[in-house]
Amino acid sequence: MNPNSEKPLDKWMTWLLKKRFGGNPAGIEGMFPVRDKVIENAQLKEGNVLLDVGTGDGLIGCAALEKVGANGKVIFSDISQDALDYCKEFANEVNALDQTDFALASAADLSRISDASVDVVTTRSVLIYELNKKKAFEEFYRVLKPDGRISLFEPIAKVVSQLQKPNTYLGYDALPIKDLFKKVMKAFTWNNNPDNPMGDFDERDLVNFAVAAGFSHAKADLEIQVGKAGMFAGQWDRFYNASMNPNAPTLREAVEQQLSDEEAMIFVEHMRPLVEAGDGWVTQVLCYLTASK
Ligand SMILES: C[S@@+](CC[C@H](N)C(=O)[O-])C[C@H]1O[C@@H](n2cnc3c(N)ncnc32)[C@H](O)[C@@H]1O
Repeated sequence: MNPNSEKPLDKWMTWLLKKRFGGNPAGIEGMFPVRDKVIENAQLKEGNVLLDVGTGDGLIGCAALEKVGANGKVIFSDISQDALDYCKEFANEVNALDQTDFALASAADLSRISDASVDVVTTRSVLIYELNKKKAFEEFYRVLKPDGRISLFEPIAKVVSQLQKPNTYLGYDALPIKDLFKKVMKAFTWNNNPDNPMGDFDERDLVNFAVAAGFSHAKADLEIQVGKAGMFAGQWDRFYNASMNPNAPTLREAVEQQLSDEEAMIFVEHMRPLVEAGDGWVTQVLCYLTASK
């Protein structure tokens, strides 16, 4: 699927291809260390069947194709048909279609996948969007063969919010314009919704879900990094046009929705030099989870 084609993409693929890094195609490179660790933790073997749940633009699934080899298979699954079409196009381009399968399915309902039929389940940044995480783990357990395993990665937003300074946006200090900032934040309604599945879990919950689903061994590695640095440093336009997740507006959309032209000017005049100078804080809380059946 050509990201520049006329057909409007659904919200997931619009975010993945156009909004996640403010439209910077090179932004994906920052994800490569996470991808490599998820794949390493999966301990893939030639001939394995891998199910990549919430595959998106195929960060994990496409890289796994080579690892499972011609006798193996990657099942790309997602709730987004556009994501599946995108991955299918990639598989076609690399002549790997006969090594693939595609399933339109949510993590909590993988009924399209037979019991005990896959060696490995991977996901990256998917459970954070799933309301029924318990059921998702039960489904992972069900589809795995008796010696199957999962390799997951999730950002732990609950802990990020405990570490982040108040009145900051992506680590940039908005305290001097806090009244305007408060108004802008009103645009992030979905994020503030108490039913939002993004902030309702941490690494211990993931381990508990795995054990409760029946896995015989589970291990969570938590990586916490807090440091003076700036997301999108030197790239104001990308920063302004990026959104934090598919359910959030871009900062530009939030500012235009909530502020008058004059207020927006004051807001941008404060934030822009900070972003250009990379004068912010980066807070990352990353969880890698492995479990075996
Ligand atoms: C942040 S993207 C991650 C994509 C990919 N796993 C990666 O590593 O880049 C989240 C993906 O999960 C999919 N998704 C969201 N909610 C889901 C759910 N409940 N079950 C399965 N997939 C879901 C979205 O369509 C999107 O492709």
